[in-house]
Amino acid sequence: MSLKNVIAIDGPAASGKSTIAQRVADRLGGYYISTGNMYRAITYFAMCNGLEMSGEPDAARMDGILKNLALSYARDCKGKLNLLINGDSADTEIRSPEVAKHVSKIAAMPNVRSWLIGKQRDLALLGLVIMEGRDIGTVIFPDAKYKFFLTASPEVRARRRLAQAGETPAGATVASVAKEIAARDEMDSKREIAPLKKADDAIFIDSSRMTIDEVVELIESRIKGIPAGN
Ligand code: CDP
Repeated sequence: MSLKNVIAIDGPAASGKSTIAQRVADRLGGYYISTGNMYRAITYFAMCNGLEMSGEPDAARMDGILKNLALSYARDCKGKLNLLINGDSADTEIRSPEVAKHVSKIAAMPNVRSWLIGKQRDLALLGLVIMEGRDIGTVIFPDAKYKFFLTASPEVRARRRLAQAGETPAGATVASVAKEIAARDEMDSKREIAPLKKADDAIFIDSSRMTIDEVVELIESRIKGIPAGN
């Protein structure tokens, strides 16, 4: 069975997935969902709850932390979904460089991924969803009819990340940001469970020399037969 109401966009760090996915969602009238923000929210919550982040995080402690965590979404007046951590918004906190530093370690934990998988799949019940992450086309929705793998050169990605206010440490340079995202990509690609990987049937897009509009147009040109009225 092919899932027609899910558009999966995967790719490495700072490849432009969130901007593109949000734009596609706005144009098609669907819900934009960043799964990276869910991993960031868990990381932030674990940090707030004192989980030791140097070395391997303790899985049993993480189980306890997850028991006290509820991730939910509030729909704003424009129909946009805002992620809440135990009822509170933490948009700025979860995008901080400190969270970025630890998130890949947390996202590699089997208990964290199994805690999220059902929640991520349930979001397809909302209607048309444009979900971005690392394993959407491979693990979360392997049956999605529309799959894209978006990337860009390391330098372009570092420049894009540097331009995002609040997401890099003070004094960051293109070189230091490139190093940080390369380290995260390496961990994300090499982990055992649900590594960052292009699904065989995903359309590969290198956006290094493309504008946002060009990428959005390319994606839209490949999408046909989405159920109307979402
Ligand atoms: O925005 P950026 O490209 O920096 O990354 P993100 O999408 O916010 O994802 C943050 C981190 O969450 C990634 O580096 C992965 O470690 C993890 N992640 C994952 O493991 N699986 C996903 N489906 C999405 C994110």
